[in-house]
Amino acid sequence: MQLQKNISLKPYNTFGIDVSAAYFADVYSKEELKTILSDDTFKDKQKLILGGGSNVLFTKNVDALVIHNQIKGIEIIKEDDNHVWIRSGAGEAWNDLVMYAVQHNYGGIENLSLIPGSVGAAPMQNIGAYGVELKETFVELEAIDIETAEQKTFVKEECMFGYRESIFKQEAKGKYIITSVTLQLNKNPVFNTSYGAIEQELQKMNAQPNIKNISDAVCNIRRSKLPDPAKIGNAGSFFKNPTVNQEKFDQLISKFPSIPNYPSRFIGTQLPNHPINYKLAAGWMIEQCGWKGKRVGNTGAHKDQALVLVNYGNATGEEIIAVAKQIQQSVKEKFDVDILPEVNVY
Ligand code: EPU
Repeated sequence: MQLQKNISLKPYNTFGIDVSAAYFADVYSKEELKTILSDDTFKDKQKLILGGGSNVLFTKNVDALVIHNQIKGIEIIKEDDNHVWIRSGAGEAWNDLVMYAVQHNYGGIENLSLIPGSVGAAPMQNIGAYGVELKETFVELEAIDIETAEQKTFVKEECMFGYRESIFKQEAKGKYIITSVTLQLNKNPVFNTSYGAIEQELQKMNAQPNIKNISDAVCNIRRSKLPDPAKIGNAGSFFKNPTVNQEKFDQLISKFPSIPNYPSRFIGTQLPNHPINYKLAAGWMIEQCGWKGKRVGNTGAHKDQALVLVNYGNATGEEIIAVAKQIQQSVKEKFDVDILPEVNVY
């Protein structure tokens, strides 16, 4: 374990916001984690858990003990003819786990290639992209209770996964540190190429749908649309895509006939008798409001994907929040729809 005082968090958040942390601990094992949680020095200090820092926006200095989860290791814990159960340390980079699966030809997470962040952060917001969400392969996770330093296992049902949602963003928020995640991957995978862009990319690549090719296709699409945080600070989609009911959707489609929409009877969990809802593309709405590629000071909406806010240099968290509010207001005025942040704001 390495403990530092008053350090800049700039290298530890992909938005590249320069705030300081009162205390910062790199933690490499469950034992180290339990030790620091039981340390009297930090008994009354707030604790903030950081993985890859790819879904946070810091707006002020952090007067807390920041725990940088570096618990590593990928292992096969069980296997049968059709499936393999893989447990990964929460501090592994998510994409390293995806690449491990792709190399071994284990299916289920290839559509989630190149998502920034750590394995431990993946269940927090049930990461999803190109027609697949984490919850589809998720089995369970281990976590440590911050108050008691005791270990607890959360099985899938207990995580209450929804669209960019889980119990760890609701009642369990700030209460646990995820130490490992177990996924069940397929040896005989069924591919999901339903997301139009994947089909098109595979054709462009002149490639059959298989695990490696789908992963490559997703990487190509992401690289063409989403800014690389190593080059320009960002935290992926800043807002969630909003969902509206039938009545609201009818009003919108008559006024904006080309509005992209995804009808669904799902709200978090599967509800077959639930009335149809419509998920809308916030990026499209933000673009329609004239924000795509627009720069305000050190920030703005990205030129290729308006849902992503970027840091052009020395933006502060407050600056980004101020622009985010203006964007929310524009969308509200034009579409009468509320869009909510997807990133965690501190
Ligand atoms: N669109 C625009 N203008 C834009 C952005 C999007 O017109 O500036 C349109 C697109 O043409 C398309 C629709 O909006 O018709 C949806 O766009 P896209 O496929 O790029 O996906 P998204 O809904 O904007 C979501 C996720 C992304 C994920 C992609 C692909 C959320 C909040 N975001 O974005 O996730 O990569 O789908 O599955 O659900 C992230 O969470 O950080 C993230 C990048």
